[in-house]
Amino acid sequence: MLTQGILGISTADLASEVRAGLTRPGQKELPSKYSYDDIGSALFEVISLLPEYGLTRADERLLRGHADAIVSRVPGPAAVAELGSGNGQKTRWLLEAFGRRQPTKYYPIEISPTALASAVERLARIDCVSVVGFEKEYLDGLLEVAARRTSHEHILVLFLGSTIGNFDRPAGVEFLRRLRQILLPGDSLLLGADLEKPVPQLILAYDDPLGVTRAFNLNLLARINRELGANFDLSHFEHVVRFNSGERRIEMHLRSTRPQIVTIPKADLTVTLRQDETIWTESSHKYRPEEVVQMAEQAGFRCDAQWVDTEWPFAESLLIAQ
Ligand SMILES: C[S@@+](CC[C@H](N)C(=O)[O-])C[C@H]1O[C@@H](n2cnc3c(N)ncnc32)[C@H](O)[C@@H]1O
Repeated sequence: MLTQGILGISTADLASEVRAGLTRPGQKELPSKYSYDDIGSALFEVISLLPEYGLTRADERLLRGHADAIVSRVPGPAAVAELGSGNGQKTRWLLEAFGRRQPTKYYPIEISPTALASAVERLARIDCVSVVGFEKEYLDGLLEVAARRTSHEHILVLFLGSTIGNFDRPAGVEFLRRLRQILLPGDSLLLGADLEKPVPQLILAYDDPLGVTRAFNLNLLARINRELGANFDLSHFEHVVRFNSGERRIEMHLRSTRPQIVTIPKADLTVTLRQDETIWTESSHKYRPEEVVQMAEQAGFRCDAQWVDTEWPFAESLLIAQ
């Protein structure tokens, strides 16, 4: 497999971020990126198949239906860098269209080794597409891609699946700004963003009746048990999904159902949780189509085109670095 770079996440990184998040004054937090170990990545693949979670299918409908139009707006030759590629399933539509045009390089950037391996294996089979994966954090991986750019090569960054929604709004703009700084004027970013929709529909998408998202959420504690030797008792935590209407985001939490003390030896930490206290594990912000354009403009891009899925409101925006 063509995968380069040092391991994206070390036990020391995990320990230090767990310690920081669980010792914060006020609301305890754990970063959602740590949900994607082998088990979490497999559970996320199942989530994307759930009837209640229309997001991935909407994203894929747009990529499949507009692949040729998207590719025609990106100058060649192109190096396509995908941030948090997951298993890369949806990306195939775009890469097939690029491959029909001319030889194209594809660089998936992932912190989950299993998701990365699966994207590399799946997408390296496409004609005229060469694949090198980076097991790295988003912008560290993008810096590697930029360093390999040959003259006349154009970079297209893919940030699909509304993963931008994991950042709060100001941090999302700041992330896009830092991303823009790695690019050259004329490079492109295809940004997928989940749009606002009725709250009951959103709640069901993140609290499915089969309990797959519950398992995904709890796996974060199970991972900390496995990798940091902690003793979280999963039977004393509940999966909680809320819509925060002020921030227009879904929040996932884990609620402690009783007072408890948890030790996390490799983070050198003992945590006390009150009954009903929560650990905030993920946010998924929801957008208006024009808001995505404004965020992009604040970060130094202009919107070249936007496609919206009406069955499950979702926007794909092609943004050009200014
Ligand atoms: C919500 S999933 C989306 C996967 C895929 N893009 C899709 O649309 O279905 C987010 C992916 O980003 C990866 N990820 C999360 N944080 C990351 C980071 N800081 N750097 C690189 N990858 C990250 C996760 O491992 C996961 O596979």
